[in-house]
Amino acid sequence: MSTKTTQLSSWQTLVNLADEHKTTHIRDLFASDSERAGRYTFEAADLHIDFSKHRITPEVVAALTELAQQAGVETKRDQMFAGDPINVTENRSVLHTALRRPATDKLTLATESGPQEVVDDVHHVIDQMATFATAVRNGEWVGATGEKITAIVNIGIGGSDLGPAMAYQALRPHSDRDLCVRFVSNIDPTDVAEAVRDLNPATTLFIVVSKTFGTIETLTNARTARTWLTDALGADAVAKHFVAVSTNASRVADFGIDTNNMFGFWDWVGGRYSVGSAVGLSLMLAIGPDQFREFLGGLHDIDTHFRTAPLEQNAPVMMALLGVWYSNFFDAASHAVLPYSDHLARFPAYLQQLDMESNGKSVTAEGDVVDYDTGPIIWGEPGTNGQHAFYQLIHQGTRLIPCDFIGFAKPSDPIGEHHDLLMANFFAQTEALAFGQNHDDPARTFEGNRPTTTILSETLSPRVLGQLIALYEHKVFVQGVIWGVNSFDQFGVELGKVLATTIAGELADDTTGDHDSSTSSLISWYKNNR
Ligand code: F6P
Repeated sequence: MSTKTTQLSSWQTLVNLADEHKTTHIRDLFASDSERAGRYTFEAADLHIDFSKHRITPEVVAALTELAQQAGVETKRDQMFAGDPINVTENRSVLHTALRRPATDKLTLATESGPQEVVDDVHHVIDQMATFATAVRNGEWVGATGEKITAIVNIGIGGSDLGPAMAYQALRPHSDRDLCVRFVSNIDPTDVAEAVRDLNPATTLFIVVSKTFGTIETLTNARTARTWLTDALGADAVAKHFVAVSTNASRVADFGIDTNNMFGFWDWVGGRYSVGSAVGLSLMLAIGPDQFREFLGGLHDIDTHFRTAPLEQNAPVMMALLGVWYSNFFDAASHAVLPYSDHLARFPAYLQQLDMESNGKSVTAEGDVVDYDTGPIIWGEPGTNGQHAFYQLIHQGTRLIPCDFIGFAKPSDPIGEHHDLLMANFFAQTEALAFGQNHDDPARTFEGNRPTTTILSETLSPRVLGQLIALYEHKVFVQGVIWGVNSFDQFGVELGKVLATTIAGELADDTTGDHDSSTSSLISWYKNNR
């Protein structure tokens, strides 16, 4: 689709419906329909998802579903799963869904170097990772001094960090607690310094993760880590203490990592969609190969749901359509993701890259400038901390902020009444946001009518985490199709990288570049004060 999105008949229907429902209150929608909760509650794999606290009616859902149809969501979805080059600006397939397909599946992709058996290649790498992870975990793979590895440091940034870092934190109760797992991403020297400060080089393994193996942050951190290691153990130690995850074998070799200790993936896996690839090696080391396979199984569960459920019963499609409803018809600029689980503390940050790097675009895939809003600002913090910080604005501020509430029936740490109290807050918040409260005093009045999606599952297992990730991946995909943008490139990050390289040269040589007066003066202040 393109800017023509706004010319679709369903779009016009939605304009009219939004006008009609400008003042419709969720309270009234519940009062007039005793079946409402059941009508809008979906089961998708192990996820129980309630969309009833939204400003929707059967007519609105029908028009939104028609929009998905008219925008070609099903066709694009099938093209993605089949490996068609839907990343048009880079002429690439988009096949993160192949990373979690069962080994018995077949998918052949035509590549420049001949046909690729995608699923076979995927499982070959998973098996290679499993052999390595098992050897490290049981002490067969030892460091240069013969000692067992007890600390893993993942060095990567963006998609080479956020996915495994988020998932490791989410699945800590399922991890080997004797293994210390850390993540270094920022080029700020504090990040690497703090990560290794209390580690023993003889028992530390570094995983350098970079799709391109050309990212300045990752290579700089990896060089610093290598110096830390070789200062203690000598240059030969690198072979036993550094492995790489990349698509670029020659750059891995140039860095000095044996390509036998490299775990590959492919250009058809976008960085922000890569946690199910070898990029998840640190996670596999932490939770073990069997649970990592369960995690992949969870991703695949939702792939299957997304592929087969009718649009009107399709959970990621519905999440996407609700996002479009509020962004494009009610001017909502942001979307909050509020996990009621400390294990999901990094989930909003992970989703920021997934969503904002995918759909933060203002031209369509055909290159036309859009005349409607695209990707929302994604943000959030775990409950109940957020309640004592920013929920005031969600409840009583002037802006409409649709929220996703994510909670679990069983805690990973069953201590006293904590979990019931946590969940009491969880339910109370969505009730208060939807229904509000009348009061004589305007300051104490809660208008309500704040839309929320509630996502519940029994427990945060590896499988359920996989399901949650795929749910959001496909939500982002559907929105990208409706807005007509290419969700799989990220040229918006390039300009800053180019300018930083130029300025880094000026800082190193103490030369003065050609900048605007503000930037020149700031650089000069820095040089005088560093
Ligand atoms: O920030 C831009 C980006 O290209 C992301 O899309 C990517 O996840 C990240 O940098 C890291 O890239 P690489 O894995 O190639 O080091």
